[in-house]
Amino acid sequence: MPESPYLVIDPGRVRENYRALAAAMPAARIRYAVKASPVDELITLLAAEGAEFDVASIGEIVQCLDLGVEPATLCYGNPIKKAADIARAHALGVRRYAFDTEDDLLRIAEHAPGSEVECRFLSSAPESRTPFGAKFGCAPAEAFRLLVRARDLGLIVAGPYFHVGSQQLDPEAWRIGIGQAAEITDALTAKGIVVRSVNIGGGLPISYADAAPDLTAIASVIDTAATEFLPTATELVVEPGRALVGNAGTIHAEVVGIRIAPDGRRWVYLDIGRYNGMAETENEYIAYRFATDRDGDPVDEAVVAGPTCDGDDVLYQRTRVLLPTTLRAGDPIRILHTGAYTASYSSVSFNGFPPLTVHVSGAERE
Ligand SMILES: Cc1ncc(COP(=O)(O)O)c(C=O)c1O
Repeated sequence: MPESPYLVIDPGRVRENYRALAAAMPAARIRYAVKASPVDELITLLAAEGAEFDVASIGEIVQCLDLGVEPATLCYGNPIKKAADIARAHALGVRRYAFDTEDDLLRIAEHAPGSEVECRFLSSAPESRTPFGAKFGCAPAEAFRLLVRARDLGLIVAGPYFHVGSQQLDPEAWRIGIGQAAEITDALTAKGIVVRSVNIGGGLPISYADAAPDLTAIASVIDTAATEFLPTATELVVEPGRALVGNAGTIHAEVVGIRIAPDGRRWVYLDIGRYNGMAETENEYIAYRFATDRDGDPVDEAVVAGPTCDGDDVLYQRTRVLLPTTLRAGDPIRILHTGAYTASYSSVSFNGFPPLTVHVSGAERE
């Protein structure tokens, strides 16, 4: 048994998720966002299934290439990149890039000449559970202008690209984004520029404490919008991270201690917190489910906190978390559907705690 805390990822579940998505969106190219869980075995498995890969840095590019992934299947999708990183990616064989500023476009044209580009625009989709805010994306009209400029700079235009925000619970978000992408596509077509693909980004949700809409319901909204708004020859690219790996992971942790605070609230301290894997509890965005060996005993509300001496290392104090009243120090506790955005977020040694370890093996489903 590894030392607590640790994450177990079930590769069979990731394969099932990939196949379910491919069945729900048969015409779309699926591009796995490596950042969600940059685990060698998962990258190899998804490559064998036929996935492409969205990579955010030279580190992810090198990891994929070292595993034998074809460079032609990589897209350097991070709009924030240094000229030197673009040159290095190009030297490594990467020929597909996303951008959202003229500045970055010019760097791509100079250091990755002749490559294919997607322009990310900020769609008017409703806010998701873990929103990107205004960090990425130009105005749709600017995306049109920049893609024309890309053509003039000798780059190959792939097409417009949007991301509705991670853990997006409103299927209409994709309809809005596809409608906006179609306006850009029509304007480019009128300029004689063929749009090869529309990248509808990631954001596909999974169920945590709150249930998420069904994948097939979202796929149906996407299919209807694509049929209604886009030319038939335009391919869709979907870029999931969470939806492929989230429900395939379980964190095994331990209760370190329990305290009744001066205001009477019960605090449950775990050996995992914001800095060694639970980063997505920031602002209590993601409400994970807990399972213990005492489930079935009476429950009561608990504030849940991590193990460091940091005041922000609190997972939930506003979200209503119910845990058994019989829970004691030393009890094991499992945190469910934690395969995405956990281990790779954990700090190298904050307060001396090591990063969360990852173990790839079949697991029971909870
Ligand atoms: C460029 C890009 N594509 C795709 C994704 C995957 O998003 P999700 O995990 O919500 O599917 C992300 C996540 O941050 C991203 O930055």
